[in-house]
Amino acid sequence: MTNLILVERDGPIQIVRLNRPEKKNALTLAMYSAMADALIAGEADDGVTVHLLAGAGGDFSAGNDLNDFLTLTSLVDSPIARFLLTLAGLSKPVVAAVKGAAVGIGSTMILHCDLAVAAANSRFQFPFVNLGLVPEAGSSLLLPRLAGHRRAAELLMLGEPFDAAKAEILGLVNTVVAPGQEEVTALDFARRLAARPRQALRQTKALLKRDVEPVVQRIQVEARLFEEALRSPELKEAVAAFYERKK
Ligand code: COA
Repeated sequence: MTNLILVERDGPIQIVRLNRPEKKNALTLAMYSAMADALIAGEADDGVTVHLLAGAGGDFSAGNDLNDFLTLTSLVDSPIARFLLTLAGLSKPVVAAVKGAAVGIGSTMILHCDLAVAAANSRFQFPFVNLGLVPEAGSSLLLPRLAGHRRAAELLMLGEPFDAAKAEILGLVNTVVAPGQEEVTALDFARRLAARPRQALRQTKALLKRDVEPVVQRIQVEARLFEEALRSPELKEAVAAFYERKK
């Protein structure tokens, strides 16, 4: 397993930590694979009651590695889809500790978490359309469900960044805390969940996620469109422009 994903334990809580801080935890295919493996192992481990997603360094995740987009040919059968379907299908509660950049899948991942804490310095963005892409991770279904069509259209069609206060109003996160406190608060949430009767907790999650089937279908429909969009000249231009700005 790559050390770009760290798997830690805090009692009954399994922490899956994105560990590529110098690239703002942008996700490579190997990282998606390692995250899926870690979540599957956590599901199978009776000692684990809650999953916690966190990032090393100052960011949650700047999304998919932009370079990887240029070489990715299939999404439907990729480690990205495997990770997303694993995340969407988890039976144990998932808590996210968000800070800094939460872009693309760094934002859509949160839609699959049961509880989320954001540091006040978090910057969220669903930038897909600006890259010539389409929403992924079931976000075209989950975001309007969470925030209503009007607000989801603003976020997904304009693709502009927004702050933690707005994320709280949208219901994307439960609470906003001072930077540096996000993981402490997320761990506190996770410990409180772990202290609840286990069977009742899992059944409650299952009831809340009863409609997981349409989510899985939407992830697959989006993945097929996303795959086509990966060949768009707009994506190539956007990625080239991103790296040009870095020079
Ligand atoms: N893929 C690959 N590398 C990325 C990345 C990504 N998605 N996001 C950031 N990085 C890298 C940068 O290239 C840079 O690397 P370098 O130091 O070797 O040049 C490093 O991470 C730091 O990022 P930088 O852009 O310098 O930080 P910033 O504070 O100026 O901007 C962001 C932060 C998140 C606004 C900006 O990095 C960004 O827009 N990233 C792309 C987000 C994105 O479009 N993701 C895909 C979503 S589908």
